[in-house]
Amino acid sequence: MKKKPFIIANWKMNLGSTDLQRFFSHFTLADEDLNKVQIIFCPSFVFIERVGSLINNRPMFLGAQNIFWEEKGAYTGEVSASQLSDLGCRYVIVGHSERRNLFNESDEIINKKIHLALEYKIVPIVCLGENYQEKESGRTKKVIEQKLITSLESLRSFELNKIIIAYEPIWAISTSPENPGNMSDSPEEAQVVHKFIRKLIGDMFDEHTAKSLSVIYGGSVNPENISGFAQMGDIDGVLVGGASKEADKFQKIIKAYL
Ligand code: PGA
Repeated sequence: MKKKPFIIANWKMNLGSTDLQRFFSHFTLADEDLNKVQIIFCPSFVFIERVGSLINNRPMFLGAQNIFWEEKGAYTGEVSASQLSDLGCRYVIVGHSERRNLFNESDEIINKKIHLALEYKIVPIVCLGENYQEKESGRTKKVIEQKLITSLESLRSFELNKIIIAYEPIWAISTSPENPGNMSDSPEEAQVVHKFIRKLIGDMFDEHTAKSLSVIYGGSVNPENISGFAQMGDIDGVLVGGASKEADKFQKIIKAYL
């Protein structure tokens, strides 16, 4: 069976209640189209519930941008897997490069978060990618391999069906300090890395797991370049930051998959 592509909006620390109201009043795609893809909105924690009511049982899903690695307790300012699950969150982004860089999140921490999310039946969207220096020195594959091995430590193959890998080259993220010139990866180059990730998963687990795993791309995806990414055989969808904040742009990205 053909996999449904994932189109995930990572709104980061943007969009307040008025913006959200406006976004959904301009979001006009019919359920019939939305059923052909998997749309996931990842608002700030404080607006997850609000977005849930704006989605209003339509075929779109809720995700969070982070999760804590312990179940509960004295962790001021953190949000737990069970709280996210209570809010109806079915997905969570883990290991985004902004969290790795600004909050020192390691692959070991990301591994703990993945395990906990799975325990609460929340699908982790595991982000990984190389920085500019690593790319320039030809270390992209080595970096991806190391991150993948550590962050997927002690997962079993059936659990891989319940996670999404997001390849996000850090230098290609629109707001990255490494990206002042607005670079984006080419679909062809991204495809090579996606194929490599799938091969690694095949070696670490098995062929069937590698084939059924969803590996999506993120980094300056927009209405102008989406058609290239949508055509690549090993790219199962996109994680969109900047261009997901406006309903019009986000819908154009979705339409590339319809
Ligand atoms: P971008 O962000 O689409 O603005 O590059 C992607 C991301 O950081 O997930």
